[in-house]
Amino acid sequence: MRIVLGVGGGIAAYKVASLLRLFTEAGHDVTVIPTEASTRFVGTATWEALSGNPVSNSVFDDVHLVNHVRLGHEADLVVVAPATADLLAKAATGQAGDLLTNTLLMAHGPVLFAPAMHTEMWQHAATRANVETLRGRGAAVLEPASGRLTGADSGPGRLPEPQAIFDAAMALVQGRSDYQLPLAGRTVTISVGGTREPLDPVRFLGNRSSGKQGVALAVAARNAGATVRLLAAHMEVPAPAGVEVQRVETALELREAALAAAADSDVIIMSAAVADFRPAEVSDTKIKKRDDTADPVITLVRNPDILQELVEKRNASRAGSGQLVVGFAAETGDSQGDVLAYAQAKLQRKGCDLLVVNHVGMDKVFGQDSNAVVILSRAGSEPQEASGTKTEVSEAIIRRISFELNHVSPRA
Ligand code: CTP
Repeated sequence: MRIVLGVGGGIAAYKVASLLRLFTEAGHDVTVIPTEASTRFVGTATWEALSGNPVSNSVFDDVHLVNHVRLGHEADLVVVAPATADLLAKAATGQAGDLLTNTLLMAHGPVLFAPAMHTEMWQHAATRANVETLRGRGAAVLEPASGRLTGADSGPGRLPEPQAIFDAAMALVQGRSDYQLPLAGRTVTISVGGTREPLDPVRFLGNRSSGKQGVALAVAARNAGATVRLLAAHMEVPAPAGVEVQRVETALELREAALAAAADSDVIIMSAAVADFRPAEVSDTKIKKRDDTADPVITLVRNPDILQELVEKRNASRAGSGQLVVGFAAETGDSQGDVLAYAQAKLQRKGCDLLVVNHVGMDKVFGQDSNAVVILSRAGSEPQEASGTKTEVSEAIIRRISFELNHVSPRA
């Protein structure tokens, strides 16, 4: 496929190098047209090297090739990223002062704008009107992602992640012109990793959770356009870029963070391995072994069930009734019941909307890169199986969550 990639003059231009890589690695022939302003952020040498094609934004270069007409005509797809307020305005009013705007006027195929700008610019009536005009003419304009902007503030205006723009572009080419990222405008809170319950300043009770599945879920939700908030207990993998991270240590800390985050979350996914018990007493000083006293005995007390509390809180609040609460179950099965029987019972007991069931054993799931899960729904639909790498499984879970949010009536 022949793709024209227009690059606008915003700080997010650097992220477009990754988008270009995704296009070229998928076998597409990409011609990059950077605006004059964008070359102050990323130079043309980068685009030439990564695309393998000559790069210009002047209608007076290679005039014999009539690029200002040819590039738009021949393109199977035009993608503009970052689409700045200025570029959206120029496109909406049909200006043709440089090669990119000429190409937009000549485009025969689908056109996708991936906006990035400060929240106030995005929400300004002028930009709203320009976006409406462009959409009205059949162009796809993605909703920008929310999160930290260039300065200290945050809000909608971030460039969607390169993978998200790539997915939207491919969907557009397949004729889905109304395509929006399935979780655009949604806030998804995900608890990940394993809690650590202290015994004394140097010791804790922990578990084998690596956090890989939760992090993969965060990436999939982010790529689906969500604002992602990670409540991160102990993890063996780094938190991904483009998500907000709040560190927690114990089940009680996680509970507090989860209940606070619930106030403005469309989805809460409890993928963390939460300790069911914590030591009844935590010593302020290191517990020493002594020959003159008996060896210590650890007494445990039960931690609150965070998932259950989240469901109760959601059910009690009318405003929150559209919120989707997703639990995870790690089951081994035993002589009393198999994995699915235990999971069904857990789903009913905890009352969450979806329960993702992992079959765990000493060598299965924890820390592994691949996985097989069954998604159970409280509404009683058929159990859905998903398997593959943790990335693939996470994408399937996020697709199911998007479906529930966008197509299933409010809960509770
Ligand atoms: N969970 C929670 N709070 C707890 C324990 C677990 O929110 N105190 C959540 C987990 O994050 C997960 C789900 O509950 O989403 C299921 O956890 P699991 O450990 O499998 O279930 P348990 O309630 O501990 O049941 P069991 O004793 O059968 O293992």
